[in-house]
Amino acid sequence: MTYVIALPCVDLLDKTCIDECPVDCIYEGERMLYIHPDECVDCGACEPVCPVQAISFEADVPPQWRRFYSVNVEFFADLGSPGGASRVGKIRKDHPLVASLPPQR
Ligand code: F3S
Ligand code: F3S
Repeated sequence: MTYVIALPCVDLLDKTCIDECPVDCIYEGERMLYIHPDECVDCGACEPVCPVQAISFEADVPPQWRRFYSVNVEFFADLGSPGGASRVGKIRKDHPLVASLPPQR
């Protein structure tokens, strides 16, 4: 199981969540942040600090955003497990679903 970032993060990228993650597994794309499903240790620290409630435990993702589980997982398909977001910095891409969204705000 893992935590998942969903639609409210798109074009906001508040980033408060990054400071809470003890394993540095929240990676920055162009338009949102993504949680690495294999590096996340399910501690739950990130969930309450997001000001727009974009983060949920995998089993609790609101129905309208359920697709974002795959969005987070598939974002890392060609990246593997970098072992820390701070060492890779901003990643110049988004999942295709996110890239195709109209501006969110
Ligand atoms: Fe996004 Fe919320 Fe983190 S808006 S960057 S998931 S604090
Ligand atoms: Fe990191 Fe814990 Fe969230 S490992 S992504 S702060 S659930």
